[in-house]
Amino acid sequence: LVLVLDFGAQYTQLIARRVRECGVYCEIVPGDISAERLAARHPKGLILSGGPSSVYEPQAPKADTGIYALGVPILGICYGLQLMAYQLGGQVEPASHREFGPAEITLLKASPLFQAIGQEGSRLSCWMSHGDKVLSPPAGFELLAMTSATPVAAMADRRRHFYGVQFHPEVEHTPFGKELIRTFLYEICRCRGGWNTQSILDQAIREICERVGDGRVVCGVSGGVDSCCVAALLHRAIGKQLTCIFVDHGLLRKGEAEQVRRDFAEASGIHLIYVDAQDRFLARLKGVTDPEQKRKIVGEEFVRVFEECASEVGGARFLAQGTLYPDVIESGASSKAHVIKTHHNVGGLPKDMQLEVIEPLRMLFKDEVRALALSMGLPESIVWRHPFPGPGLAIRIIGEVTPEKLHILREADAIFVEELQKAGLYRTLSQAFAVLTSIYSVGVMGDQRTYAYPIVLRAVTTEDFMTAQWARLPYEFLEKVSRRIVNEVVGVNRVVYDISTKPPATIEWE
Ligand code: XMP
Repeated sequence: LVLVLDFGAQYTQLIARRVRECGVYCEIVPGDISAERLAARHPKGLILSGGPSSVYEPQAPKADTGIYALGVPILGICYGLQLMAYQLGGQVEPASHREFGPAEITLLKASPLFQAIGQEGSRLSCWMSHGDKVLSPPAGFELLAMTSATPVAAMADRRRHFYGVQFHPEVEHTPFGKELIRTFLYEICRCRGGWNTQSILDQAIREICERVGDGRVVCGVSGGVDSCCVAALLHRAIGKQLTCIFVDHGLLRKGEAEQVRRDFAEASGIHLIYVDAQDRFLARLKGVTDPEQKRKIVGEEFVRVFEECASEVGGARFLAQGTLYPDVIESGASSKAHVIKTHHNVGGLPKDMQLEVIEPLRMLFKDEVRALALSMGLPESIVWRHPFPGPGLAIRIIGEVTPEKLHILREADAIFVEELQKAGLYRTLSQAFAVLTSIYSVGVMGDQRTYAYPIVLRAVTTEDFMTAQWARLPYEFLEKVSRRIVNEVVGVNRVVYDISTKPPATIEWE
């Protein structure tokens, strides 16, 4: 086990993912966790993350200085390096100008951390993002690397196994970053590895069996990789004690309900109880235009329908959910943050619920879930399906949801996705979908004036869905999709492509 102490960096989750990609289990803990609690977990190594603060500010998050006496190797990254330097008696200062983006470091000394990467005098490109800098390392440390703007780009106290780097080894713009993390884990922390898809699978099944015993479990399946993976895991672990329910809220994409029922059942051998609740949801959404209100209604109604169905099945003690590690981290950390959208399923269940929740994926990242799902034989159509929000098309139709708008949006969305798949672009994107704005625009078809809906196409790439880039789809491709949509979907006379990043826009339109 390696623990990442989080000081608020954008990249903290990325650090944890890189560590796990190296085959070492790792968790994220608050930066100010006590040394005693850390010691109780028996970590083989600690990583101090980056963060937006300045170490010399009174409010800046600090590590318990007891961590430096645990005898555990430590790697400080960016703010983590500055914090280690500051707390151990080095000198940290605001830089005269921020260093942001690609930089070149020069190695000044051979060291265990860089042993697989370069020797004295090597020049290496890396990614920097910092305002402050360490001027001089604390006593006991030697200087390992510098850049033209950063006097201490890397430092080490070999005796205590403390290392610090100013650059970000976790991002892909630092080409040797993964090797550096691997060296830290295997050569310095002496980790043995062993975290892989097979061990994740074995452990998950063991834990489910221990927790559930001979109890019965109900599981909602939505067709996304998370819920399908949970169901497949449970099926392996407890077989017939599992009941899976698929609620069709009428806000799914074209053909989705049929496809999920067919593909999932075929691949997993699990019988899905299909609940057609389309009319109930549409009736409750009638006349509602506020996005948060729509989310609330869909969420409430979903729980109601699900509970009714589960109680008909009878005898269930547990409810399984596909919560992932990023949801767990964000729900813990975001209590002070603004509610932009009420996304998170965590904690969204009714208080009087009788069922105990089990979340077999709660310590896993999405890429681990995908690998797990593939290893259990789930089809690619499920494994690589883009995430789809719980309220479904209700938040992709701006304003009131009506059967007519749902039909138009489904047809347009299906054309977009079909063309993306045909062009081999679907897997290169994190999410791609159509949005129906409830305004009309004027157009001309033949000699007729039209007054119909514009369709917005949205396609993004992102690592973590917290920030996102709009996808640079080829013009010819967009042209083809646009032509097909206006020709084939009655009620649409215009197609626009959303070229906004997140932030300041969000991925969904509502
Ligand atoms: P935004 O629009 O906030 O979306 O950039 C980030 C990610 O969250 C998804 N999303 C939701 N998922 N219920 C969900 O289960 C919701 O209400 C919801 N709203 C947004 C969105 O699709 C994207 O993946």
